[in-house]
Amino acid sequence: METIISPSILSADFANLERDILRIKKAGAKWVHIDVMDGHFVPNITIGAPVVKSIRKVTDLVLDVHLMISDPKKYVKDFIKAGSDIITFHLEAQSDSTLEIIKEIKEAGKLAGVSIKPKTPVEAIEKYIPYLDLVLIMTVEPGFGGQKFMHDCVQKIADVKEYARIYRKNDLYIQVDGGINDKTSKICTKLGANSLVTGSYLFNSDDISLALRSLCE
Ligand code: DX5
Ligand code: ZN
Repeated sequence: METIISPSILSADFANLERDILRIKKAGAKWVHIDVMDGHFVPNITIGAPVVKSIRKVTDLVLDVHLMISDPKKYVKDFIKAGSDIITFHLEAQSDSTLEIIKEIKEAGKLAGVSIKPKTPVEAIEKYIPYLDLVLIMTVEPGFGGQKFMHDCVQKIADVKEYARIYRKNDLYIQVDGGINDKTSKICTKLGANSLVTGSYLFNSDDISLALRSLCE
């Protein structure tokens, strides 16, 4: 599977989102990563479903929505309706309802992802692998862009790859988010990641196309 880069608009200019989404598309991105934060699950507030709905109107890129919110069960419908293609929520948010939320996303014809924070052991996700389209391994504490890649999380990538083999999920997206640059990207892909989220590295570079390519080469 070719590595899919999902540029995170958290590092884009929110007053010029359409322009920045066009820029990443021109650079060759197929996905766009949208970080939704509620100021409760994480200590930051970003955007909600109305913004996803507006983005849907201006792009055909795959909308890869990352919910960092305490109550995904309550809000998942809004993000389905807003036109998300992939909805990823956190295992730590409402662990009793994880399967129920996954099923709701899938029944709506969307791809379902579950994410784990750096301190959450990878074993916690194993039982959901047969139901999932995507596993998102956080390599920073969720909440902010521009943080340093946490190397001690990388073993989880190989572990999820092994789960994918055991459960015969050849098409599972193994995504990594946080501190991805031209060096950390290689560490992740070597271990089995096939989707990389990148925010500050990409948007702070002078040449977005070059930066995008540098993640895969
Ligand atoms: C952090 C977000 C990330 C963030 C990554 O909580 O989930 O998607 O935008 O930003 P960088 O690539 O700058 O670490
Ligand atoms: Zn994210």
